[in-house]
Amino acid sequence: MPLNPNRNDSTFNKSLIKIFSLIVVALIGSMGHGKQNLIEQYRQPISEWPPIEVDESVNAQKLAPLPQLPEVEWHTPATENLGKQLFFDPRLSKSGQFACVSCHHPSQGWTDGRRVSAGHDRSEGTRNSMTLINVAYFESLFWDGRAEGLLDLILKPIQSPMEMNSDLDEAIDRINAIDGYRPFIQEAFDSDQLTPERLAIAIASFVRTRVSFRNDFDRFMQGEHSRLTEQQIEGLHLFRTKAKCMNCHHGPLLSDGQFHHTGLSYYDRRFEDLGRFEHTGEYDDRGKFRTPSLRELSFTGPWMHNGLFTNFTGILRMYNHGITFNSRVQKKPGAPPLSPLIQPLGMTMEEIQALESFLHTLNRIPHFVRTPDLPNMGSNLSTKVSELHTTNEKPLLISE
Ligand code: HEC
Ligand code: HEC
Repeated sequence: MPLNPNRNDSTFNKSLIKIFSLIVVALIGSMGHGKQNLIEQYRQPISEWPPIEVDESVNAQKLAPLPQLPEVEWHTPATENLGKQLFFDPRLSKSGQFACVSCHHPSQGWTDGRRVSAGHDRSEGTRNSMTLINVAYFESLFWDGRAEGLLDLILKPIQSPMEMNSDLDEAIDRINAIDGYRPFIQEAFDSDQLTPERLAIAIASFVRTRVSFRNDFDRFMQGEHSRLTEQQIEGLHLFRTKAKCMNCHHGPLLSDGQFHHTGLSYYDRRFEDLGRFEHTGEYDDRGKFRTPSLRELSFTGPWMHNGLFTNFTGILRMYNHGITFNSRVQKKPGAPPLSPLIQPLGMTMEEIQALESFLHTLNRIPHFVRTPDLPNMGSNLSTKVSELHTTNEKPLLISE
């Protein structure tokens, strides 16, 4: 019987297709299996997790729950109690309209929810208000690190013309003149007179108690492995490896506390902010800002020193492109170089989503803090302060 070449061919083709599909199924299966293995690996103690991938120059600290707040001898219950009242008291400002809480509001993740802060006389500031949560763990404070620790910082916003615009001595005289404050000052300092140093100690005592509660990721690290979904675990893996976030966001705070230029300096354009350079004057510091903690991130937007971003996806896409987004700036002669730790990442959209879902595990409902009754203030304080506090301002996008 003559062979039917056509028939033979088609049988041959069919077997090829069969073999091919078997290979594909096996490959997909093994990929799924690999993914499952990875997830199981993360459901082990941290010592069993896959190694992190960071650049050689980086000495990354382990991700971990926050340690206990270190004690300082100047912080007592009485200094904290006095500091809480002063934190909410607009009489520290020249106009009598601005308190610390105006720009660091408990219901806004201790920020003001604005792109950049508006201060004295509604003057538009240039920087995004920073959260006060976990601030006690940082050594260098402000986006540019111009304060060393809380005691060094507190008197600055009171005097800043853009913020509370007070003459410090006058502000202290105003508080000392309020009868109702005397017993609290006495209890805190064994003297009924406030001084600049005592003012700083009191407010710093209150501010340093703003510390995150344990979030889902903390509990996951402590062995509650059902706290993270599989997608969030994939995001954690990306955070530690391919996405290179741990080049800068590491340790219990998810911040190295250091300064980097990630590409948002707007060099030689409108909205230019040279960051750390403005404090140190060092040429190499141009465009550098402090790496923020990623704890409580969901409550502290808009994000970045200039409030540029209003959602996580935008931020992650920008990192994914190695921040070439700002390439126009980079092409300007003399532009400060990007940190070498920022590189294009080649993540898929699915990976970006996983990373984003991991970022959502770093938050816990913020502390609820009631506005205290202030000495000799009457009852109109909360309206006074809350009026100042605009939460629904549409963030402006810098598009120039
Ligand atoms: C008009 C708004 C405004 C007022 C009022 C204000 N702040 Fe701020 N605060 C900001 C802005 C904006 C930043 C970031 C500034 C920068 O980096 O240059 C900031 C930063 C901080 C930081 C640094 C946090 C960190 O992680 O480094 C602390 C702490 C702080 N403020 C505490 C206070 C205290 C205490 C008061 C009251 C005495 C106060 N602020 C009043 C807007 C304000
Ligand atoms: C080179 C160090 C570096 C790397 C790598 C890095 N970051 Fe950042 N990150 C920073 C600095 C610095 C800022 C503040 C920049 C600014 O405001 O101009 C920042 C800001 C952020 C913010 C905004 C936080 C806020 O409070 O405004 C988020 C979210 C963030 N980074 C997430 C990530 C993620 C996720 C990755 C990994 C894909 C990553 N970062 C990689 C240094 C880095």
